[in-house]
Amino acid sequence: MSKIRRIGILTSGGDCAGLNGVLRAVVQRAARGDGTSGPIEVIGIRQGTAGLMTRPVEAALLDPAMFTGTLLRTGGTVLGTTNRGNPFDYPMPDGTRLDRSAEVIEGYRSLGLDALIGVGGDGSLAILRRLAQQGGIPFVGIPKTIDNDLGHTEVSIGYDSAVSVATDGLDHLQPTAASHSRVMVLEVMGRDAGHIALNAGVAGGADVILIPEISYAIENVAAKIEAIKAEGRNFALVVVAEAVKTEDGAPATQSQSGGGQTYGGIGYYIAQRISEATGAETRVTVLGHLQRGGMPSARDRLMASIFGVHAVEMILRGAFDRMVAWSGRNVVDVPLADAVAGFQAVDPNGPLARTARGLGICLGDD
Ligand code: F6P
Repeated sequence: MSKIRRIGILTSGGDCAGLNGVLRAVVQRAARGDGTSGPIEVIGIRQGTAGLMTRPVEAALLDPAMFTGTLLRTGGTVLGTTNRGNPFDYPMPDGTRLDRSAEVIEGYRSLGLDALIGVGGDGSLAILRRLAQQGGIPFVGIPKTIDNDLGHTEVSIGYDSAVSVATDGLDHLQPTAASHSRVMVLEVMGRDAGHIALNAGVAGGADVILIPEISYAIENVAAKIEAIKAEGRNFALVVVAEAVKTEDGAPATQSQSGGGQTYGGIGYYIAQRISEATGAETRVTVLGHLQRGGMPSARDRLMASIFGVHAVEMILRGAFDRMVAWSGRNVVDVPLADAVAGFQAVDPNGPLARTARGLGICLGDD
């Protein structure tokens, strides 16, 4: 195997807490080299694949000294990122779409890199894999997504922090709900997976949790709220995942000017329907991008450290076209193709759904 002297790293897709911790781990591990030669240089590529499309390419050497203090503790990504602009179907200013993958690959080559690490979710890792295959780029993926919906890894960076923020949200809503005798509806992110909603709902003592994987009837939700009232409690907490649909099966989405749809607003529909069905006073909080920012949790900092170090060691042993993963209390690596193809939804009969039911939490289906 040829000697590894210089690797590139980019963050791609939606940001989340813990990405700077990944960069730190990669840079620090690379600085220690393979034990037989000097340090490996790490080049940080800006704005995901967009940085490789720009001329001159937007990239700079990541000095280990940058990563000794505050960055482990900060949200966001110092490299910047994008979840728009697939290079294979790039939206041009005149409204046409262009395959700009060759420019990205040429940009990668211009940096003289021996391998590339991409930190991304299912969408961006699938794009990066395709680029790597087309350009013959030795590539390693690190999973990050607050949605935690990537297959073949139990954990993705950013997820734990997002669950903490959503749990905190419920902690903040409970006293005001009790003070005003209200039903508080908290809408959380997660795209098509209900992991954040279910985990934060259980951790934050929700009474009702609605997720896309379990279909609900508003009568069941109303019956739960009525039962709480009959027991003498004057408030209730409802968590709803953003991809839950209306009773007619319509998603709550907004069209974006550059194309694509984003979720948001189903909480208002659920609150309205609860109010109509029970007469309760309802209020809605859409937690939105607060779930992506803030200080990374201790768990996310740990996973960022473990994944970053492992990714560099994979490069050193030539384990390419693979993704770092967490499985059975261990760091492993899995074929990238399997990870991006294995969408991981909530198991409606899995341990946490059963726990929720055992706690008397209404999941909407009974
Ligand atoms: O995939 C992460 C995520 O935060 C989803 O939970 C959410 O639906 C989406 O990204 C929001 O994306 P944007 O940053 O484009 O609003």
